[in-house]
Amino acid sequence: MTEDRIVHRTTKSRHRLFLCVSASLLLAGLGASTGGARPSGSNTDWPVYGGSKAGERFTALKQITPANVRQLAEAWRVETGPGGLQTSPIMIGRVLYICAPDQSVMALDAATGRQIWRFSSPTAGFQPVRGLTWWQQGGERRLFASSSTFLYALDPATGAPIKSFGTDGRIDLREGLGRDPQALAVFLTTPGIIYRDLIITGFRTGEGAPSAPGDIRAFDVRTGKLRWSFKTIPSDGEPGSEHWPTNARNTTGGANNWAGMALDEKRGMVFVPTGSAVSDFYGAGRPGDNRHANSLLALDAATGQLRWSFQAVHHDLWDRDFGTPPTLLTVRRNGQPVDVVAQANKQGFLFVLERETGKSIFPIEERPVSQSKVPGERTSATQPFPTLPRPLARQRLSEDMLTTRTPASHAAVLDAYRQMQSGEAFTPLGTEGKTVVMPGFDGGPDWGGAAVDPGRGILYLNSQDTPSMGGLQENKPSAQTSPGKMIYDQNCAACHGLERKGNPPDFPSLVGLSKRLDRPTTEAIIVSGKGRMPGFPQLSVNEKNALLGYVLDTAGVEGMAAYLAMPPAMLAEYRRMAGSRQDRYLFTGYEKFRDPDGYPAVVPPWGTLNAIDLNTGAYLWTVPLGEHPELVKAGLGVTGSDNYGGPLLTASRLLFIGATVYDRKFRAFDARNGHIVWETMLPYAGVATPISYSVDGRQYVVIATSGSRDPKGPQGSAYVAYTLPSQTK
Ligand code: HEC
Repeated sequence: MTEDRIVHRTTKSRHRLFLCVSASLLLAGLGASTGGARPSGSNTDWPVYGGSKAGERFTALKQITPANVRQLAEAWRVETGPGGLQTSPIMIGRVLYICAPDQSVMALDAATGRQIWRFSSPTAGFQPVRGLTWWQQGGERRLFASSSTFLYALDPATGAPIKSFGTDGRIDLREGLGRDPQALAVFLTTPGIIYRDLIITGFRTGEGAPSAPGDIRAFDVRTGKLRWSFKTIPSDGEPGSEHWPTNARNTTGGANNWAGMALDEKRGMVFVPTGSAVSDFYGAGRPGDNRHANSLLALDAATGQLRWSFQAVHHDLWDRDFGTPPTLLTVRRNGQPVDVVAQANKQGFLFVLERETGKSIFPIEERPVSQSKVPGERTSATQPFPTLPRPLARQRLSEDMLTTRTPASHAAVLDAYRQMQSGEAFTPLGTEGKTVVMPGFDGGPDWGGAAVDPGRGILYLNSQDTPSMGGLQENKPSAQTSPGKMIYDQNCAACHGLERKGNPPDFPSLVGLSKRLDRPTTEAIIVSGKGRMPGFPQLSVNEKNALLGYVLDTAGVEGMAAYLAMPPAMLAEYRRMAGSRQDRYLFTGYEKFRDPDGYPAVVPPWGTLNAIDLNTGAYLWTVPLGEHPELVKAGLGVTGSDNYGGPLLTASRLLFIGATVYDRKFRAFDARNGHIVWETMLPYAGVATPISYSVDGRQYVVIATSGSRDPKGPQGSAYVAYTLPSQTK
């Protein structure tokens, strides 16, 4: 195993020094004028991804209030280099733990942003890391971080891997899944959750078959040994296997948890939402309901045993993952408190289930849905629809909803619309033209998560509200089709398109790639992935060569050589796969339905922030979230926009949220009415969930920002901290 390189800046664990600073020295007299903050001089942590194991994204701090929030000012800023950031950091003691776009981990002084150490694994990648996990017992402390396919246990004082964990401080998450580890792409994007001495994890994997089966696993925090695993795709003969084809664990994959979990410590239950099974859009290779895919699982956190499972989409054909982490809270029904788990999916549905039983507190109806005509496909006859709360996004795109931004944009969109299929929710994609998918492939709500007011049973959640479109195309390689093209179609076309034109700005075009990138850089991106692109470490040398030859348009030279070098058996295998049950139809690519100027094809709002009373299922308020600055200038007002990353709620009823891609704003809303009470410009878009903590009695709000979602904006990434000027408090 390679030795780890630790890039670090100080020789001592500087934060120990800070712990010695006497609290009484600091900022005495806070709070009197703000009616809430206590001059305690104490620190309040943000110790868990999501704020608490219940995933509340809530802080009891209330020094910053709707009355003084206007005075909020930048406390510090730390630049972390080019790339994307989706990280929501953690703060323990007075140390903030963050990730950089290259998946290195940094410890910062939480009050000043000064770097204490930095850890970079030799197997660095560019996968989005949403956070870190902290474990502590007695004097033992560990910080769990992911890099490439590995999970590391780091010493929080120095950033050095703890050698007794796994092999030299890390475990390879590709191992133990019953497959050749080298043939799998497995990355931990959302951090694991701790129960006693276990770290419970899911992972991100590829979207095309076969990919890793989405086992939920618990590892010993000290040794890294696997303590339990729950198979979301059962082995033949096991309970649930009747909802899958035989040998599904080897031929399909996915049904994985990538959005995070919540833990009910008292009950010893972990709530695990899963995504769709692969292949995502054509399900002939996985007939059946695909039980435990697109499901919320309640597992015994000590043993991994299933307590109950709720499936939100049967036999998913739209990539309708549970892509949002669950949130635990208590609501009142008929005067009685009921412990519930609230779980949103990419369809824009919000399910509110009793934690104990999985029973929905609002009725759910199984309704008939339209059926696919694509050969081999067997659509589920019905899908579950929650009756309350109403969906977080519009559920179909009809002609009267098409954009009226300009007469020309309307005409163009109408023309495109009339050439597509468009129906109710769960209209399957077809082979003749494209089908409108509303809300789009990114939801609805996404991975940012919800904030809750635990005392009131109110849930706050942002959502996108724009259409996508997609279709299927028969996979018919001719005798002339190069292996590089076949490999590309199977692995890359879903995002970069069958013609390599991509769908900018979400997915770059690869046309003319060789003019921008050299071969080693291209190869590194393919192997490790980048941002929203998963890595493909599973490709063999032969496959990689053939693929590189194709995407770099060197088919005449390198591609040909690779073609010849490709073992005939492998070539035959690719031809066989192309005609196989699961790959007979290929997805034409993730595409947002936009007008010719790049704005959504639907009338606004294109993104919203919502407050929902879960005691009743009623919306308290909904406001558009996000602006397109040039449209505001043109008098079109606040349209809402694409938004990624969730809100944070404070006990003073401030709702902080970045998330908006194009205006780069960070806002605070008054949680009582949805009014904006503060906003500031960020260096890059705040497409991550903010956190709040206090050091020496002073409250901070921190958000990760990055430019990669808007190629037209400034590029880079940074963490920015805000606090009230001393005289305010
Ligand atoms: C799930 C979607 C997805 C899949 C599948 C995918 N990519 Fe990407 N790819 C992206 C995104 C998004 C980016 C931009 C990443 C960024 O800059 O943050 C990207 C970037 C790239 C780049 C860099 C382009 C540039 O101009 O800098 C290359 C090269 C690339 N992909 C090749 C591939 C190849 C080859 C495959 C198949 C093996 C593949 N991708 C599969 C989404 C995907």
